[in-house]
Amino acid sequence: MKIAMANDHTAVGMKNELIPYIESKGHTVINFGTDTTESTDYAVWGEKAANAVAQGEADLGIVICGTGNGIGLACNKVNGIRCCICSDPYTAKYSRLHNDCNMIAFGARVIGPETAKMIVDEFLETPFEGGRHARRVGQIMDIEKRNHTK
Ligand code: RB5
Repeated sequence: MKIAMANDHTAVGMKNELIPYIESKGHTVINFGTDTTESTDYAVWGEKAANAVAQGEADLGIVICGTGNGIGLACNKVNGIRCCICSDPYTAKYSRLHNDCNMIAFGARVIGPETAKMIVDEFLETPFEGGRHARRVGQIMDIEKRNHTK
């Protein structure tokens, strides 16, 4: 799969550790994040990765800031994006299985690289279950359609 990644200045080290890990699993990473530790704004980077996922340039997206909150919230503002902000592999697994999330966010100041790798594994390897969960995800996307203001 093609994986869009983005990060702010807090997560350059985490991103650099995850890219070869993800590539070692046979995926291609498109890096939309900053590569320096100079202070910057998470929304700028998150939007780039979210657009790549929403437009089909990437299959899934992984974004990282200090907590995961800012960059994950920014991604969820892009139409078509369902980004789970999480710190554990169980939530990451169910973000795919039940919520069909196409992006995941976590915090480089919250978890270490080994937990991040477990989260990434669950996120990239778990399929969407469909069935009743498709109805529920559809209801989420209907909220987006009803509130679309463009
Ligand atoms: C940057 O200091 C920090 O606020 C950012 O990385 C993120 O945690 C915001 O949600």
